[in-house]
Amino acid sequence: MSKTTHRLFWSLALCTVLPLNSAVADVDHENYDHRFCMTCHGTDGRGNESIDAPRLAGMERWYLERQMNLFRDGLRGTHPEDLAGQEMQPMAEVLSDEELEDILDWVETWEYVPAPITLSGGNVERGRQLYRSCATCHGQDGEGREMMNGPQLAGMDDWYLVTQLKNFVAGYRGADSRDVYGSQMRAMALPLTDEQAIIDVVSYINTLGRQDP
Ligand code: HEC
Ligand code: HEC
Repeated sequence: MSKTTHRLFWSLALCTVLPLNSAVADVDHENYDHRFCMTCHGTDGRGNESIDAPRLAGMERWYLERQMNLFRDGLRGTHPEDLAGQEMQPMAEVLSDEELEDILDWVETWEYVPAPITLSGGNVERGRQLYRSCATCHGQDGEGREMMNGPQLAGMDDWYLVTQLKNFVAGYRGADSRDVYGSQMRAMALPLTDEQAIIDVVSYINTLGRQDP
């Protein structure tokens, strides 16, 4: 299936699943009907590359909350070229504050498992040098630094990190001055103009915070 076909498939699947979730809402959990996240983000929130939905399990609460608010406020996922972002944006827009709180509590209970490595063709040594400028905000081991507002990158889906870096460079993300932290990150991504540099830096991030060499 092509990505477009996949998208169509999942959109249709979601239309079917949403009413089903609502139907069991009273039985499982009174707020169950807004907890449809795994439909796209995969079992236990481990991500689903075929529809561009990244791993959420293990994501810092403060970062998750900020992204949900950015989507809700239309500061992320509204650029006409940002197709994956446009899929997510309406999912956040429908949530009330209470529902969002409930989702944040829920996601926190998902077990963290580092995402599998999918990227190849990167020059890890060049990536290590490029990463020097990233560590201030994302940590030496890509563990994230809340103080600097930089989320964890280690163990995240590598294909997703690549897309986001491209999105920052292209201005799909972080171009709105009201998106304070996104703009900060966009400025950091702008020097990564060639795709190989992005692949190299993410290949280096793939070596961080993992048991395997
Ligand atoms: C229709 C499919 C779909 C559903 C349902 C969905 N998402 Fe998403 N989500 C996506 C896609 C696709 C992306 C990637 C957007 C991008 O590339 O910028 C995404 C991105 C995200 C991100 C950004 C992650 C990051 O690292 O910045 C968060 C957070 C998120 N989703 C949370 C949720 C939560 C919580 C729910 C349930 C309320 C949910 N999503 C439901 C498709 C979906
Ligand atoms: C000045 C601090 C700063 C520096 C330096 C920095 N970043 Fe970031 N980065 C951020 C912030 C803040 C965010 C979160 C933006 C948001 O909340 O939307 C972010 C987000 C990201 C994301 C998106 C993660 C996700 O889950 O969606 C990626 C990928 C990323 N940074 C990679 C890098 C790389 C690679 C470098 C080095 C070339 C770098 N950053 C340097 C502050 C920084």
